Amino acid sequence: MVIEKICCLGAGYVGGPTCSVIAWKCPDIKVTVCDKSIERINQWNSDKLPIYEPGLDEVVKECRGKNLFFSTDIANSIQEADLIFISVNTPTKTIGNGKGRAADLKYIEGAARMIADLATSNKIVVEKSTVPVKAAEIIMKILRANTKPGVEYQILSNPEFLAEGTAIVDLVESERVLIGGEDTPEGQKAVQALCWVYEHWIPAKNILTTNTWSSELSKLAANAFLAQRISSINSLSAVCEATGADVSEVARAVGRDSRIGPKFLEASIGFGGSCFQKDILNLIYLSECLNLPEVAAYWQQVVSFNDYQKNRFTRKVIESLFNTVSDKKIAILGFSFKKNTGDTRESPAICVSKTLLDEGAKLHIYDPKVETDQIYYELTHPQVTNEPEVARKNIEIHSSAYSAVTGAHAIVLCTEWDEFKELDFKKIYNVMMKPAYIFDGRKILDHEALINIGFHVQTIGKRLSRTSSIRAQGSQTLP
Ligand code: UDX
Ligand code: UDX
Ligand code: ADP
Repeated sequence: MVIEKICCLGAGYVGGPTCSVIAWKCPDIKVTVCDKSIERINQWNSDKLPIYEPGLDEVVKECRGKNLFFSTDIANSIQEADLIFISVNTPTKTIGNGKGRAADLKYIEGAARMIADLATSNKIVVEKSTVPVKAAEIIMKILRANTKPGVEYQILSNPEFLAEGTAIVDLVESERVLIGGEDTPEGQKAVQALCWVYEHWIPAKNILTTNTWSSELSKLAANAFLAQRISSINSLSAVCEATGADVSEVARAVGRDSRIGPKFLEASIGFGGSCFQKDILNLIYLSECLNLPEVAAYWQQVVSFNDYQKNRFTRKVIESLFNTVSDKKIAILGFSFKKNTGDTRESPAICVSKTLLDEGAKLHIYDPKVETDQIYYELTHPQVTNEPEVARKNIEIHSSAYSAVTGAHAIVLCTEWDEFKELDFKKIYNVMMKPAYIFDGRKILDHEALINIGFHVQTIGKRLSRTSSIRAQGSQTLP
């Protein structure tokens, strides 16, 4: 089976970059990315794309209008496509059964019903959104219960492993592509058709094929393992701060063991992003449904520890500022959940900012890529505060780090943007209130140099002399 036309439902962080790279690497395939949001599609068709991703602009510019199209004409795109990716959003449910843990599959279901309504020829439907195990079964049930005569569906699971901020490189140089399908001749034919698409640029040895459920579970498992590493190193960061060990040194030593490996051992203020927490919560919910409470409890701890780490850091900020931040001006540097993205979903900066706002602080926020409205949205929507107007009054968004820090009592660095390393901290010290504090939630600054300038500095996983001597005197002697 040859794929000539691909349609993608959902032009978000996953669908947009993935299909742009497919179009770029497969000039013989027409790729149409659809979204029900006209605004989103207009942005994809403009000079300012709706998401910031290094390298994405260039790829889109090269292919758009040739074999890459962004469209709201979902009906036509579905009808002409041989293969349809579903990459719609799958937020955690906020109401009803499984609230706060289970994935809300209403958009997946909506997409499947749309395909069932509109398709007039055979389709390979590929689940690309991160979804709970057995979501493919739901899609299959909807499609097969509503199928028209002469129309047949094959459903594949093809989870996306790209990380934001490195999406284009991750897609172009994928370590692995995972494709799960039904163990029937038709199912295997569909798997081979999708393999053929990827083989345009991915070596065949990097393409793994499994059954559908293994593929779905592997995506949750990969994210759960990655998040677990971060919670593990973050737990040790607390031990380091209490003992005098340096978490970076510990990570370097531990990571040298090839069985462990050096990546993803960066202690931090806590992990964020749209996937880690959501996927672990999915895994927890799945385990509970399968009557495996011990498994659920094991993974719950990874999420709970992340909340602890975010709160621990914020508590440190407040305690250092004489236990009150009321009416104090605090500069928040970085608001996205990691560098090189404008995405704020589950960003630890939200948790830090919210607690400081609750304590009466005045926040001056700067992020190189997050839109002003997005920051206001994250800190004033009803799930975060009952008093959006009060919060709004205490937030000011800045267009440069220098303007955000002027007159501040403290700088709280929440995202590891490279430009923060290049700031002129002597200049910054001179325009801040004294004593001037810096809380480096990402361990990226030159702490020694900052202390020499006169700052009080605190970071994650390392005790720094000037601020820690009193604390050290009071700490318990280990047995
Ligand atoms: C993640 C997975 O990496 C990707 O494979 C999957 O497809 C989607 O989820 P993403 O959320 O975009 O990607 O970013 P990632 O680089 O994994 O970072 C997630 C969070 O963990 C960020 O907040 C990051 O700052 C934090 N992190 C990461 C750490 O705190 N320490 C680390 O060592 C690595
Ligand atoms: C371990 C460490 O590997 C070693 O670096 C350290 O110095 C001492 O502790 P050891 O206990 O001798 O070494 O053996 P190891 O190979 O690590 O196995 C420990 C246990 O884990 C065994 O029971 C093994 O069967 C089990 N294991 C190991 C698994 O169940 N799954 C695995 O993937 C690996
Ligand atoms: P992700 O990070 O998983 O890509 P996003 O929220 O960035 O998630 O993108 C998902 C996109 O899917 C949104 O732009 C949303 O409007 C779109 N969407 C949801 N349901 C449908 C649908 N049935 N058809 C087309 N687009 C949809």
